[in-house]
Formats: sequence, C-alpha cells, structure tokens
Amino acid sequence: MATVKYLGHSCFTIVTGGTNLIIDPFLTGNPLAGAKAADIKVDYILVTHGHGDHFGDTLEIAKKNDATVIGPNEIAVYCQANGVDAHNMHIGGGWNFPFGRVKLTIAHHGYSAGDDLDMGGSPCGFIITVEGKKIYHAGDTGLFMDMQLIGEEGIELALLPIGDNFTMGIDDAVRAVSFIKPKKVVPMHYNTFDLIKVDPEEFKSKVTDAKCVIMNVGDTLEV
Ligand code: NI
Ligand code: MN
Repeated sequence: MATVKYLGHSCFTIVTGGTNLIIDPFLTGNPLAGAKAADIKVDYILVTHGHGDHFGDTLEIAKKNDATVIGPNEIAVYCQANGVDAHNMHIGGGWNFPFGRVKLTIAHHGYSAGDDLDMGGSPCGFIITVEGKKIYHAGDTGLFMDMQLIGEEGIELALLPIGDNFTMGIDDAVRAVSFIKPKKVVPMHYNTFDLIKVDPEEFKSKVTDAKCVIMNVGDTLEV
C-alpha cells in the first residue's frame, strides 16, 4: 500500500516502499499548509508548473534533502541552474523511476516570464504508478476531453482542482470524474485564497462516478 497525505492546496506526499515523494510543495506562504518546508523529508519532488502556489518551496526542499525534482523540461532546467538535481521530462513521456513510473499529461493552464519563475513552459499533470496503482494529479487545468484517454489507463485515485477561477470549478470537475472514471477522487486547489473559495461538500454530492474523499489537511489515504 502507498500512503497519500494531503498538505493543502495541490500539495500531497506519497510514501511507497521506502521512498518519499512530494507533489507541488507550496508550504511557505500557504496559510492552510499542513507542514513546514524545513520539516519535509523526501527523495523526489514532482512539480506541475512554475506558479508560486505549486513550485513553492521546491528549491529549499531539494537542497536540504538532496532530492531529485521531476517535472517538465523548463522546470527541470531551472532547478539544475539553481544547483538542484532534476529529471527532465515532457508531456506524453513517462519514465520508470526506482519507486515507480511517472508520466506527464497535458494540463490547460499557463505560466510565463513575470511569474515566480522567470521563464515560460508547459504546465503538466502526472500519472504516478506506484505498487501497481495509478494516481492522477491533474495540476492546474481546465476541463479537457482527453481526460478520457487518461481514464483509459485505469486510474485508482484522481486528484482534481475544483476551486474555479484559475482551474476547473465544481461542475467541470464533476464532468472530469465522468471522463476519468477513477475509483476514488480527492478535490484540491480550493479555499486557499478568496478567489478559489468553494464548498467541497457540493463537489462530493455531485460526484456519482467515483468515491469522493474530502481530505482535510493532514489526512492520509491508502492506495
Ligand atoms: Ni497555476
Ligand atoms: Mn495554482
């Protein structure tokens, strides 16, 4: 069993075997964060895109833990330029890491010069295969029909943004669940800021194609 823990916003840790992963480690500056960056112990950091609420504490955590960043090429190059080990990937590509496979998916979103990272690039989502189960972290994205292709891979757990304004809102996230057909879905990217305040119970009540689990910050889920 792998253990998935929610640290707020779009940040999750995954513990599988003896390996610790963290996704989108936005902790410093997140009023709802479930951990301090200085306390994070990880081997790998997966980053969907360069916005500050996702890249977050990546460099600090990577340096402190001698961890490897996994993400789109632009993110990886930026990390390498800052003295951090990184594995360059891009959308559609997968790689078999010692802990399992990571494949990058599309995400309809953006980031560019002027954001926290002074560069452009394509945001992504991740399909992370650990212990034979697939976890889909959508990153920041609007709804897209190709989520059906992601669903065809057989998703155990989908982590989907529901906060609206910058990403899918509740109704589109419900449609995403019907495309992906995961066994379980967890909402993310809501209530951190005023612009993304929504009621996760409304999402849960509308999801009929999967078991919806609302994770409070600090909650864990076995996959
Ligand atoms: Ni973003
Ligand atoms: Mn975001």
